[in-house]
Amino acid sequence: MPVHLLGISCSPRTDSNSTALLSASLKRAAETYGDDFTSELIELRTVPIEACKDCDVCGKRKDDGRFLDCVQKGKDGVQEVLDKMVAADGFVFATPVYFGLPSDLYSRFIMRTRVLRHQDFRLANHVAGVMAIAARRSGGAETTIMATWLPLLRNGCLIVGNGDATCQYGAMAWASGRGHVLTDEWGMEQGYQVVERVYSVARLIKAGADMLGFSSPMTFDYVAGTRP
Ligand SMILES: Cc1cc2nc3c(=O)[nH]c(=O)nc-3n(C[C@H](O)[C@H](O)[C@H](O)COP(=O)(O)O)c2cc1C
Repeated sequence: MPVHLLGISCSPRTDSNSTALLSASLKRAAETYGDDFTSELIELRTVPIEACKDCDVCGKRKDDGRFLDCVQKGKDGVQEVLDKMVAADGFVFATPVYFGLPSDLYSRFIMRTRVLRHQDFRLANHVAGVMAIAARRSGGAETTIMATWLPLLRNGCLIVGNGDATCQYGAMAWASGRGHVLTDEWGMEQGYQVVERVYSVARLIKAGADMLGFSSPMTFDYVAGTRP
């Protein structure tokens, strides 16, 4: 089975730098890894996303023991993306830097993954890497990358940076106008390296999980760690 990666572009813009960087990086990986690599790119700007309501229904079970769905399932486009995340071996997020943080689109979407955390960590052991696009040098690319990691870590994802010779925190691209990132040679290279690293680690995890025959090693307990 090929390693399947989901690219998630978190820019609200059409023809965004985030999508251009992600798309070129995934394309290059497909050329490099051939049949062992598949991917899909989702632009969050095209997905209707309601905010998490904090209703705390997720994680509770029906009488037959199955988990209840998110109360917003079917009311917007989020469940479809969540299903794709569970099915993928790894994720690559590309986000514009907004005030040193990932885009509000990223935040709105990622809060909705709480249902997967509450359903025994369905994103556990999925590998994740981040690309950030900033208009300014020292404009907050690294704080953005690290802030993007936090909800992923709480979901049990395995965070990686970029690979090859540099092993940095991810990709920092430098661009402003639409498509400007395509002229940032080093940013484009780093973007590819993030995909390469996510692919390599996901491949190891997949092989190990197949050999050992386990899926998620974690069980969510609503009560543990909270005050009674
Ligand atoms: C609300 C907002 C906040 C921004 N904040 C920053 C910032 O803190 N640092 C920075 O370097 N660029 C900042 N930018 C510029 C974008 O990160 C930059 O234009 C980027 O290339 C946009 O990527 P996109 O085309 O994928 O949306 C900001 C842009 C917007 C709209």
